[in-house]
Amino acid sequence: MSKPNILVARAVFPEVIAHLQQHFEVHANQADETWSKAQLMDKLRGMDGAFTTGGDRIDAEVLAACPTLKICANMAVGYNNFDIDAMTAAGVLATNAPDVLTETTADFGFALLMATARRITESEHYLRAGKWTKWSFDMFAGSDIHGSTLGVLGMGRIGQGIAKRGAYGFGMKVIYHNRSRLDAALEAECKASYVSKDELLRTADHVVLVLPYSPASHHTIGAAELALMKPTATLVNIARGGIVDDAALAAALRDRRIAAAGLDVFEGEPQVHPDLLTVPNVVLTPHIASATVPTRMAMAMLAADNLIGFFKEKRPLTPLNPAVLATK
Ligand code: GLV
Repeated sequence: MSKPNILVARAVFPEVIAHLQQHFEVHANQADETWSKAQLMDKLRGMDGAFTTGGDRIDAEVLAACPTLKICANMAVGYNNFDIDAMTAAGVLATNAPDVLTETTADFGFALLMATARRITESEHYLRAGKWTKWSFDMFAGSDIHGSTLGVLGMGRIGQGIAKRGAYGFGMKVIYHNRSRLDAALEAECKASYVSKDELLRTADHVVLVLPYSPASHHTIGAAELALMKPTATLVNIARGGIVDDAALAAALRDRRIAAAGLDVFEGEPQVHPDLLTVPNVVLTPHIASATVPTRMAMAMLAADNLIGFFKEKRPLTPLNPAVLATK
């Protein structure tokens, strides 16, 4: 029997390609070309499966053009690049890559929070520019992490990891808001108290966003929400672009309506709102929260193992629309 054809839409570790090649006819993009939607549709024609990343949009138009496709395995925990309803309607399985990145991403969320509150990149730019000529009492004075109030918006696995780092590592008071409240045991484990979104925004010294993107979470933080925050507060977004209204945030930072922000994700990335590039009180990183070598390897291997599990035994590890499996 001929091997299934798999498209790997972006470059990935050679070990992962070799792993896939044991089971599939692999069509890899190791040159890491970034394809337009039309190019992706063209490359997907005749494919049985796809290894995708968060930038590869799979929607009804793509699915209609690629009727042989049976599964898309995302090398990301977030899957807002998938139209899950359209995939289910087309009988195409979707999988993501949860859990393996939780602690790494929580580490990064905390690093970005600390860099933001303690003005680390802003002060480094100052030093590199040769502007540091003398000590002064308030030079790059920021805000404290220890003993302050941490507000986590979106209390999934990564949010819980950030809450625990804050509570156990830095003696922070942790408050959170989520679509559904955690059970009492998990709240106690995270030392976190449930509050309304408005209360969180009003009382937190540091707000960290870790909620999934969907049309319902679009611009969860806009001008009105920023106006609720303390002028001394910091905001960190490691979730997805589009959860924050970047133009409104840039204006709030410029006018010092909040103290600072740390952003790993952006509306329309890899483009960054030009106003964010001109304000000094923002730390900007290029969507790297899960980027350690072992974690990226684990994410890629999980995506590959989802493809292998699906084609070998109809048992993918982390299906998002498992109802599709019943029809196979
Ligand atoms: C990264 O953003 C992911 O969703 O894994």
